[in-house]
Amino acid sequence: MKIGVLGCGSMGSGIAQVAATAGHEVILFDNNKDALKRASQKLQKILNRLVEKGRIDDATAKAIFGRIYMVNNMKAYKDCGLIIEAIIENLEIKKSVFQKLEKIVSDDCILASNTSSLSIASIAAACEKSDRVIGIHFFNPAPLMKLVEIIPAVQTANEVLEKSKNLIDNWGKLTVVTKDTPGFIVNRVARPFYGEALRILEEGIADAPTIDWAMTEIAGFRMGPFTLMDYIGNDINYTVTETVFKAFYNDPRYKPAFTQKRLAEAGYLGRKSGKGFYDYSESAQNPAPKKNKRLGKSIVNRIILMLINEAADALFWQIASKEDIDIAMTKGVNYPKGLLQWADEIGISKCVKGLDNLYKEYGEDRYRCSPLLRRMAKQGKTFYKKKKRV
Ligand SMILES: NC(=O)c1ccc[n+]([C@@H]2O[C@H](COP(=O)([O-])OP(=O)(O)OC[C@H]3O[C@@H](n4cnc5c(N)ncnc54)[C@H](O)[C@@H]3O)[C@@H](O)[C@H]2O)c1
Repeated sequence: MKIGVLGCGSMGSGIAQVAATAGHEVILFDNNKDALKRASQKLQKILNRLVEKGRIDDATAKAIFGRIYMVNNMKAYKDCGLIIEAIIENLEIKKSVFQKLEKIVSDDCILASNTSSLSIASIAAACEKSDRVIGIHFFNPAPLMKLVEIIPAVQTANEVLEKSKNLIDNWGKLTVVTKDTPGFIVNRVARPFYGEALRILEEGIADAPTIDWAMTEIAGFRMGPFTLMDYIGNDINYTVTETVFKAFYNDPRYKPAFTQKRLAEAGYLGRKSGKGFYDYSESAQNPAPKKNKRLGKSIVNRIILMLINEAADALFWQIASKEDIDIAMTKGVNYPKGLLQWADEIGISKCVKGLDNLYKEYGEDRYRCSPLLRRMAKQGKTFYKKKKRV
């Protein structure tokens, strides 16, 4: 099957590489000629590096590159069986592009969007054949990140869901199916990792290096929240939080932090601008973490409880299965453990108690415990069956 990829920025070029590596001919279009040239050079470089590292041989690299056709006319999509759109995150522009696509492709061509934050239903609604539209959400960088969220809209035909899932599974990815709700799984469930860390900072409980130390050394995350926010970019990370917050009708659980907003406004975007929560200049002397075990454990406890609550609530609202929620967080953002598995290990009653304590202390809806956790605690249930001891 010929695959079309629309937009050749960070995501589009990565997705094209994945599809071509899986053996497909790929039609890659962008309305910016310079972007196409840059993407071609970047792809060539990436493939050369893979050859140097011995991951693939020269002939394979050439074959992958040879299967990607960079085009400057959308008509080249005519024979594609699937088109994945990865252009600018703007609903009106995406809608008009999907309408143009429908005039070019055959009736059975699946039209997918890689959007991180827009509703698939609204994109599908712009199409005449809305049941062929679906969300296929890759993570950055697409060739390296194993997880792909598959998002059927209310209009999507079951057959389109099955076909898309099978295809992406065959590309060596791990797919999870999620409801078409803001942030899907990962960008929703991960919010407290940043939000609660920012809250702890704003309350003056600990500084960024101490929170990062606690979350890496004690909790086992690969990167602390502030290092990660600086890595993602404070502008981007703030926008995702704000988008999710607004999309959930200003639910205080997702409330963005002024601290991060001000950093973004000041241009302290993180690594890419040389300064964010940390200073990345050569002469920089960032403060050392205060390695106080008790403080560290209380930081970890609070952030993990909020993450567990978010994961449990996503299950409560049937956004995805418990297995898919745990896979999404371990494979999509490299969490050391699935959050629902983590809840079992801590003990559901203990999680409820911890959340209720936060709620009592602050009196804020932000800390309300998910009804699912409360119900499970009452019934003495766990998310997974306990492993038998041998
Ligand atoms: N960057 C990420 O981490 C990430 C992760 C997952 C999903 N996404 C989503 O993927 C999409 C693309 O993101 P990105 O980071 O690759 O963006 P990007 O800015 O790197 O690339 C977008 C590309 O689309 C092209 N483009 C814009 N309008 C177009 C049009 N009308 N027709 C054809 N080409 C057009 C641009 O020239 C550009 O090359 C967005 O919807 C974003 O939300 C991004």
